[in-house]
Amino acid sequence: MSNTQDVSAVRREYELDGLERSALVSDPVIQFSHWMDEALVADPNDATSMTLATADISGYPSARIVLLKGFDARGFTWFTNYKSEKGQQLDDNPRAELLFYWKALERQVRIRGKVARVSREESVEYFQSRPLGSQIGAVASEQSHPIPGRELLEQRVEKLTEQGVVECPSHWGGFRLVPERFEFWQGRASRLHDRFRFTATTTGWHIERLQP
Ligand SMILES: Cc1cc2nc3c(=O)[nH]c(=O)nc-3n(C[C@H](O)[C@H](O)[C@H](O)COP(=O)(O)O)c2cc1C
Repeated sequence: MSNTQDVSAVRREYELDGLERSALVSDPVIQFSHWMDEALVADPNDATSMTLATADISGYPSARIVLLKGFDARGFTWFTNYKSEKGQQLDDNPRAELLFYWKALERQVRIRGKVARVSREESVEYFQSRPLGSQIGAVASEQSHPIPGRELLEQRVEKLTEQGVVECPSHWGGFRLVPERFEFWQGRASRLHDRFRFTATTTGWHIERLQP
């Protein structure tokens, strides 16, 4: 098998900005919120999409994109089907890493921590705020499970649409990651990127610069 693209030659320089220790605030959630504000301006559609990496009990990792739906001092929240692959992995092994890549800003942020389900009230409230089509889609899909064809999914959607009212299923809801570690990465020229890691300690956040 031969490939037509020479991917080895694809590279770019990162020269937009630098990151100094003195520019960081001591609370990484506030630092994240500053970067998120800038990301929302630079790329409003995709700024909140993040890679969620989980691992099963044998240690195999798996990663996929989800949308960040909230963050504050308690943690970082997204919504999904609890019976999906990620949902099952998080039940078995409630640890994860979130990764944001903000291409336009030449930045990435990694956030690692333990994960817990949000309250049922919080999930129901968010579910009800979604457009009806998304609510129906969430109910119709047994996320991550095989299906013989798309028609079956469309039939379920049709039936739910006729019924009109959709309730938040008990297997659908939010997860919240409580951060233990952050990394803020700013691309620099010649691969000499700026990286700062925040690690939670009993006395607060410990900040150190990492080699690129
Ligand atoms: C931009 C984007 C946003 C997504 N947002 C979500 C989300 O918020 N929740 C979700 O369950 N899946 C979301 N997905 C789909 C997931 O990437 C994934 O296909 C799905 O959740 C099943 O993953 P799993 O089988 O590993 O559990 C999104 C996909 C993309 C590309």
